[in-house]
Amino acid sequence: MKVLEIQGGHKLSGTIRISGAKNSSVALIPAAILAEDDVTICNVPEITDTDALSEILEFLGADVRRASESIVINPKSIKNKEIPAEISKKLRASYYFMGSLLGKYKHVEMYFPGGCSIGARPINFHLKGFEALGATVKIEGDKYIVDAKELKGANIYLDFASVGATINIMLAAVKAKGTTVIDNAAKEPEIVNVATFLNNMGARISGAGTSTIKIIGVEKLNGCFHEVIPDRIEAGTYTIIGALIGNYLKIDNIIPEHIEALTSKLIEMGVELEIGDDYLIVNKPDKYKAVNVKTLVFPGFPTDLQQPFMVLSTRCSGKSVVEETIYENRFMHIPYLQKMGADIEVNGTKAIIKGPTELRGTEVEATDLRAGASMVAAALIAKGTTVIHNIEHILRGYENIVEKLSDVGAKLEVKEI
Ligand code: EPU
Repeated sequence: MKVLEIQGGHKLSGTIRISGAKNSSVALIPAAILAEDDVTICNVPEITDTDALSEILEFLGADVRRASESIVINPKSIKNKEIPAEISKKLRASYYFMGSLLGKYKHVEMYFPGGCSIGARPINFHLKGFEALGATVKIEGDKYIVDAKELKGANIYLDFASVGATINIMLAAVKAKGTTVIDNAAKEPEIVNVATFLNNMGARISGAGTSTIKIIGVEKLNGCFHEVIPDRIEAGTYTIIGALIGNYLKIDNIIPEHIEALTSKLIEMGVELEIGDDYLIVNKPDKYKAVNVKTLVFPGFPTDLQQPFMVLSTRCSGKSVVEETIYENRFMHIPYLQKMGADIEVNGTKAIIKGPTELRGTEVEATDLRAGASMVAAALIAKGTTVIHNIEHILRGYENIVEKLSDVGAKLEVKEI
């Protein structure tokens, strides 16, 4: 079993280069099967989630060539086969094969997806969207069977602006007959990145990035070349780490507008930031002012940064409130922050943090991906050594995290125990 051992208290200086976005890449890889020819996707992070999706592509018969950050997919020899549960359950994003296989073959059989245990995470809006396009959905055991004689454009209103449902409906609708309109669509940058990718392949999608997306169905999609946007959550995580222990720490290759909800809160907190066109420089301040945050859909404060952000709240003078509104169960990092010395009380969807408190190194767990990121952030400022268990969750989403942090002065290593 692998653990991550981190010695706290070392100031971080230098540059961290941000990788391509996990949550774009995990949709782009399944989307590639809709093309008739070679698709090249650049800036794909080398993380276990993208590896698992490549494995699914290869299982389906695609020719997949990976050269460091680029992946070239030729989907010509793909067969529409049932993806084995042991691969699809490795991650949440395997569900994007539902939209893409349905869009391409009008039939898909797929086991319930896996992913972080941070709430119930149903996919009812995805299925409602497929049904609106003319598909029938059957559930047999833990498998979905989605079938359509033909897919026809429809008007679909999402009860919640779900990222996954918006992307999955786009994938299914892109080759449907006629026009599909998704209302109350998610507006996250990853949606825009996926829509741009599909348009590069010849799709006719407009409105991505707003709450109304229009998709005019096309007969055929071609190969294309596409670049993944920088990962705003990775950028946000390292910016938080910089605010905790950075000394002129540069976070490079970012789109600052994508993390504005975070940078505004940091500025309110008293963190010194220099924001450039595609980078920012962050310094640890002498004192942190308590601020409240509430997670919301984009452009609100991202739920994926809530857990690492809470580590900053432990440094603030006075009372901070962090409210989680997207997931029911995204406070699993709190018992471990408490074990490290944080003063946190949970009241329903709100965590009340009193500070400043000193954190101490101890044995903790990465219960999910972003909980893992919060443990890394806490360990970097803690007194002594922290040992993080279950690090496979962290490796699912942060490319070369050990190398990136070591390069800027952190003392950490993966150990086999
Ligand atoms: N929801 C439903 N029904 C649905 C779909 C969603 O009730 O059919 C609920 C979910 O249970 C959740 C909320 O709506 O409570 C938000 O779900 P959404 O569909 O927006 O999220 P997702 O597509 O499952 C993606 C990211 C998450 C990120 C969210 C929100 C991927 C693979 N995952 O999940 O990323 O938190 O959007 O931005 O893109 C992470 O990277 O750590 C992560 C969890």
